[in-house]
Amino acid sequence: MKIAVTGKGGVGKTTLTALLARAAVSDDRRVFVIDADPNPNLAFALGLAESPTPLIELKALLLERLGALDSFFRLNPKVDDIPEQFAVERDGVRLLVLGGIRQGGAGCACPENTFLKSLLQHLMLERQDWIFVDFEAGLEHLGRATARGVDALLVVVNPDRASIETALRIERLAKEIGITRIHAIGNKVEDDVEAAWLRSSLPGIDFLGFVPDSRAVREAVRRSQSVISPELSARAKTILEALVHRVS
Ligand SMILES: Nc1ncnc2c1ncn2[C@@H]1O[C@H](COP(=O)(O)OP(=O)(O)OP(=O)(O)O)[C@@H](O)[C@H]1O
Ligand SMILES: [Mg+2]
Repeated sequence: MKIAVTGKGGVGKTTLTALLARAAVSDDRRVFVIDADPNPNLAFALGLAESPTPLIELKALLLERLGALDSFFRLNPKVDDIPEQFAVERDGVRLLVLGGIRQGGAGCACPENTFLKSLLQHLMLERQDWIFVDFEAGLEHLGRATARGVDALLVVVNPDRASIETALRIERLAKEIGITRIHAIGNKVEDDVEAAWLRSSLPGIDFLGFVPDSRAVREAVRRSQSVISPELSARAKTILEALVHRVS
């Protein structure tokens, strides 16, 4: 199963990625989580003390795989050994930190992007593992080839207008690049009234579930601990079951 997690900045993408990945591991899945945010912090959500150096900053690796870092670089670098070699593991969840994919429009073919895109394509199209990708707010970096591998696009929303607007934009973008399976998760949702408001604001998107604003998460963040609390783990498990049910 290949899952892309998106949504407006700050809605809880990273927190939910960590929770869902952990739930998948408890369900005996082999899991990789991919931090594709230019400001990576998935490592901290998982409870790691440090975030590994983003792959994009490992110049010696890039040079070895691409042959050159100027305009003569290889377009199909070997990447199939990268996940096992560079992932950092925490409680069974294996984390890869990509680093920011450079902006520059669809035509940007710089060596770093080629490397990251090859790796994402490998993960999404050739792997049997469960892959969760924690994206930066938008979806712009998900190329068509990679999008083909996405089994489910999860849009995280809070009960506010701005995150709804972003979700609607993501819904349109996703359809444009050929992703048809989109589900929403309501995060920081206090009660049934807020949940009902979210459902009615996004009539075209199926909700997998709702997660409350959690004191345990806020406390974990303050103490630099994993955000994976028993309370939210139970929620994540239910959401994951709902997803598996929808996809199978
Ligand atoms: N259910 C929750 N209960 C309490 N706090 C939460 C919850 N979900 C997320 N948070 C907190 O909200 C903040 C933003 O969450 P998170 O970093 O997961 O969002 P994000 O969408 O990944 O943000 P960004 O767009 O910056 O990557 C964090 O401080 C996180 O600890
Ligand atoms: Mg994040």
